[in-house]
Amino acid sequence: MISLVVHGGAWNIPDDMVQAHRAGIAKALEIGWKLLSNGGNGVEAVEQTIRSMEDDPTFDAGRGSFVNALGEIELDASIMNGSSLRCGAVASVQNIQNPISLARLVMEKSEHVLLTGMGVVRFAKENGMMQCSKDELLVGRELERWKSLQSKTRFSTKDAFKADRPSDTVGAIALDTAGNIVVGTSTGGTPNKYPGRVGDSPLIGCGTYADSNIGGVSCTGWGEAIIKVVLAKTIIDYMDMNGADGDTAAKYGIDRLAKKADGYGGVIVLDKHGKPSVCFNTPRMARAYRTSEMNSTVIEV
Ligand code: GLY
Repeated sequence: MISLVVHGGAWNIPDDMVQAHRAGIAKALEIGWKLLSNGGNGVEAVEQTIRSMEDDPTFDAGRGSFVNALGEIELDASIMNGSSLRCGAVASVQNIQNPISLARLVMEKSEHVLLTGMGVVRFAKENGMMQCSKDELLVGRELERWKSLQSKTRFSTKDAFKADRPSDTVGAIALDTAGNIVVGTSTGGTPNKYPGRVGDSPLIGCGTYADSNIGGVSCTGWGEAIIKVVLAKTIIDYMDMNGADGDTAAKYGIDRLAKKADGYGGVIVLDKHGKPSVCFNTPRMARAYRTSEMNSTVIEV
């Protein structure tokens, strides 16, 4: 059994952006599926799947990300291998187009889990990762959004989530032929965020978690709320301790996010057998999945 499930964010995706989301997640899933079905490992499949969405300006990850209050682009990403529990993450990183690849380098080439600030730039250089300019990440849509927010006297992320629920974070979970469950998540965070703000995506247990004996979870939505309920690990623990299936656990997690933290978002879940589940409390969520028991890919927005 092999499986791959991806998401391209859970929010109030406008009608005129639905097609771009469908195309972006379909392309990303195709890339990862090819790798997995040729016997590739889950880490490579998740990295390449997410890179495709980071390169696609449709999503709030890599190129196309939201801009912070100072007009800079700061990116967060994480990856976790559920067989070894090894994980790597980067937070508030600038001038890197594919932070998921940097997170993988942290997992594989460092003894740490999460790098930030000057250290992450140094680590990227030491490991030969090319830096990009801010202009390569910035798209006109986000520059315009940022400009319009500067004229507001007060902008709160919570208000933004109540109104538009902007969360175009991307994520992927793979089950490979060796039975490894691997999860990755990547994001530009929230619009006009305070410089240095870190969301749930690079925090292991909050936006990302994998345990090959149980399953994997990648989250999207309002990071501050997701952090409060440690959403990814909460769902994994519910499956582990209550014997819940992925659908029940995903719903439990989203209900908890809403009730305990007044939060919005969505999750993709893959159980240890490779069965995908999705749950969200936003108007739309972009998601796609395929397993070796299916003849074609399901793509929904
Ligand atoms: N869920 C992405 C973020 O809040 O940064």
